[in-house]
This record gives sequence, structure tokens and C-alpha cells, in this order.
Amino acid sequence: RAYDVLVVGSANADLAVRVDRRPGAGETVLGTDLVESAGGKGANQAAAAARLGARTALLARVGDDAYGELLLDAQRSAGTDVRHVRVEGGARTGTAMIVVGPDGDNAIVVSPGANARLSPDDVAAAAPLFAASAVVSLQLEVPPATVRAAAALAGEAGARVVFNPSPVPDALDPELLAAADPLVVNEHEARLLSGDAAGSAADRARVLRERGARSVVVTLGGEGALALDGTAPEPVAVPGVAVRAVDTTGAGDAFTGALAAQLAGGAPLVEAVRFAVRVGAASVTRPGAQSSYPSPDELPS
Ligand code: RIB
Ligand code: NA
Repeated sequence: RAYDVLVVGSANADLAVRVDRRPGAGETVLGTDLVESAGGKGANQAAAAARLGARTALLARVGDDAYGELLLDAQRSAGTDVRHVRVEGGARTGTAMIVVGPDGDNAIVVSPGANARLSPDDVAAAAPLFAASAVVSLQLEVPPATVRAAAALAGEAGARVVFNPSPVPDALDPELLAAADPLVVNEHEARLLSGDAAGSAADRARVLRERGARSVVVTLGGEGALALDGTAPEPVAVPGVAVRAVDTTGAGDAFTGALAAQLAGGAPLVEAVRFAVRVGAASVTRPGAQSSYPSPDELPS
């Protein structure tokens, strides 16, 4: 197939400010200078995969504004094929307002802008791209009908679906869950989607597979990740890599993009997770999302 990874999803300009302490309701705090950089869960995954050398394409929409240019430039410099990123006249590029705390943790509000216009018709029009891709990677910052159409088309095309249900919905569409191989969730998403408030991350991974996911990966921040493949009775725990976290924004997307790239290359799930943990770790050592993603020679051992 001509592409390793096709990402269908969002592209956002990330507007980030660092603070010593996050404001509560009704409170004002002063932060650092504003930093504008390339983000969005879909665009981040594509940049991560492309930077690692995977042949990557992005199906997305941006607005005809300066942020759209910023996002296209970032993808081009990562090496992504952007011929299916449509510049939408009269729409604003998606924007993420990000507050980064002292430990590198973040809180994000996304204004979807042009992402909200990525449609099932766009997916249908890109059918040849699906047929040409080994892995199709999906998230939830574009309309649910578009994500469902992409999962269905990937299935018809015989492409493997990597699905990160983020931002996490109240309930997951059963067809999307059944397409996920793997479902990639962080601890928060695993708890909400499994409805298993008391269990361990391993319990939640098993619940999500019982509910229909073909395989499940639970990311554990600095602690690494769990990988539960289609048949294994127990998840395999992959340890974290010790790094000094400066900014965790987009670390999950770096992980998922790297995972998709590895799976496209034929790696078994656990090996792909091992590699993706290193990519996620590298990304938290530098500020921003795409601006922090490593090339293969920048990975920690
Ligand atoms: O996952 C991190 C991303 O979430 C940021 O880049 C921001 O754009 C939001 O989509
Ligand atoms: Na980062």
C-alpha cells in the first residue's frame, strides 16, 4: 500500500500560556507570553507518524486564515501528504486554548472551527486513499458521523483502524468500538468508557475488549502503557521511560501516531507500544505538541 498511515481528524492552532497555578471559576491569573503552535489531535498524530518516517496522509479541514497556513506548513515539514487537507473559505481554523501548569500538565478548550465541517462526503471522496493505506487513525474532534464513515470505509478497504476516543464521549458507538484495533485510551478515558470505577487499568482494558474492541492500549502517563491484544488473557505492562516533563500537551497523540506507524510496519502490538512509549516520552521533554515530536534519532533508549 502506498501509505502506512492515513489520519482522519482535526487540525488546531494551539494557543498556549504557562501559569504557576490554574485559575478557579471567577478567578484571574497572569501567565507567560502566548505561544502559537501546530496542534489538533488528528494533525498531531499525522505529524508524529510522518516525523518517524511513516508514509503518512492527513484528511482534514482548516480555515483560510493564518492558522490554516501554520498547520499546513507544520505538516509539510513533517513530511505528511496534505493533498486531502481542504482549506475552507470563510471558516476559521480550529483553535485550542491551552493552559500549561508548572508540572507540564495541561487543560484545553477546543473551538472546532473548520474541523466541524469535515464530512462523511469528504471521507467518501477520499476512498482511494483508504484503499491505499495500511492503518487509518481516528479520534473524536471531528463530527461523529465523519468518524463512523471513516471507520466503515477503512473496514471495507481492509485497513487496520487505530482509534483514540478523545475528547471522551458519554457513550461509545458500538461500531466504532468494534472497529478499534487497538482502542487507545488514557486512564481517565478507560475509567469513563468501561464504567469500571473501582477496577485497575488492566481490568478496564479487559472490560473494553469484552465490549467489542479488538485490542486495547491504556496509556499511563509516565508509567508507560498496558497492551491487551486480541487473544491474550492478560495485558502486557510496558514500563515508562524516565524523562523530565516540560509540557505533556499532545503526548498521547505522539504515542498514537507512533503506534499507528509501527503497526503499519507490521510490528506486533506489544512491540509497537514499547516504541510508542519512547516517542511519547520524548515529546514531553519539549514545549508544544507537534513542535516537540521526535525523529527516530531523537528517541530515548
Ligand atoms: O491532544 C492534544 C491536542 O488537543 C492539542 O494539540 C489541542 O489542539 C487539542 O486538540
Ligand atoms: Na511536548
